[in-house]
Amino acid sequence: MQASQAMQSLPPYLFARIEQKISECRERGIDIINLGIGDPDLPTPTHIIDRMAQSIYDRVNHQYPSSVGLLEFRQAVAEWYDMRFGVDLDPKTEVVSLLGSKEGIAHVSFAYLDQGDLNLVPDPGYPVYGIGTLLAGGTPFLMPLKEENGYLPVLADIPSDVARQAKLMFLNYPNNPVGVVADPQFYAQAIDFARHYDILICHDAAYSEMAYEGLRPMSILQMAGAKEVAIEFHSLSKTYNMTGWRIGWAAGNPQAIEVLGRFKSNVDSGVFQAIQCAAIEALRGPQECVAQANQIYALRRQVAIAGLERMGWQVTPPQASFYFWAPVPKGYNSASFAEAVLEKANVIITPGSGYGQYGEGYFRMALTVDQGRLQEAFDRMYTAFGKVGF
Ligand SMILES: Cc1ncc(COP(=O)(O)O)c(C=O)c1O
Repeated sequence: MQASQAMQSLPPYLFARIEQKISECRERGIDIINLGIGDPDLPTPTHIIDRMAQSIYDRVNHQYPSSVGLLEFRQAVAEWYDMRFGVDLDPKTEVVSLLGSKEGIAHVSFAYLDQGDLNLVPDPGYPVYGIGTLLAGGTPFLMPLKEENGYLPVLADIPSDVARQAKLMFLNYPNNPVGVVADPQFYAQAIDFARHYDILICHDAAYSEMAYEGLRPMSILQMAGAKEVAIEFHSLSKTYNMTGWRIGWAAGNPQAIEVLGRFKSNVDSGVFQAIQCAAIEALRGPQECVAQANQIYALRRQVAIAGLERMGWQVTPPQASFYFWAPVPKGYNSASFAEAVLEKANVIITPGSGYGQYGEGYFRMALTVDQGRLQEAFDRMYTAFGKVGF
């Protein structure tokens, strides 16, 4: 039996391929330092685990949950938005729970696209925007994110016939993989554009809490008129080190939240309620753990800046997120440099081309190992490559 054409053309997920490489190396007894996937190495804070431990014994939680999420979870999300961004959300109509934000990001295309419709997709970008589009029978129209434009898409470059055919526009700030934030002027432009062309903005804010030097990244929902045209995807994964727990949400435009919730009620049955209870604790409980994690990432960021500069990079450190995005040295492309770093230094980095065609010529590193291991990764790279040229 043949899989669909969309599935046949889909390569294994970038990190599935990398995981395979890692296990091959480990089988050969090689000590790999993995700066590949953006999976926090820090533990989930204890108060969140404690709440999970209590909730798991509560029989009420053993039955099917509501597919849109416990009202109490959605209320906790609304309170968190108010506390963090001063944004007012109606928990009943403007929030829906997700099995991690990846799930919602992939499924929103199924809820909105008819065969052949277009989505506006940033490139480089989190691969799921384009993959969800393709699986839902649509076509991604790439919005290049270029260094000279501050890694913001130039909306004026999108042809008007393309904009008219587009259903969704994915945006992601703080950005994975490049680590920049967007300013209110850009969000205002995007909202005007979406209103003009009747497009739903899907803003992915998974890294809003991970930032440096006192920066507090904003939510698109803080902008006037945003709720008319935008939803925001969010996640507990990075903020509270809960990648394995699989819980997130979408918030914003009530019609879009209803559509996504109705889609989900037909394909999944919601998030295990005990996990929702733990998420409520994360959102309502003490927030010091977030600041503490950011202090740790800030120290690692210094190690990465020093390590790259020593090898000859002129480093633009990330404003936010735990990613470094940098050009590959002369004589390499993204894939050959990532391969050389693995072969010669036993360090995993991800090729920029894995995030789209405009990522070619770059690589990404995630600050997801402790300071000592990170230092070792840079020492190994320095021993293997010395000073590099551009
Ligand atoms: C930009 C971005 N959005 C969304 C996600 C998905 O996060 P989760 O599904 O764990 O909520 C990730 C994960 O790496 C990401 O980098």
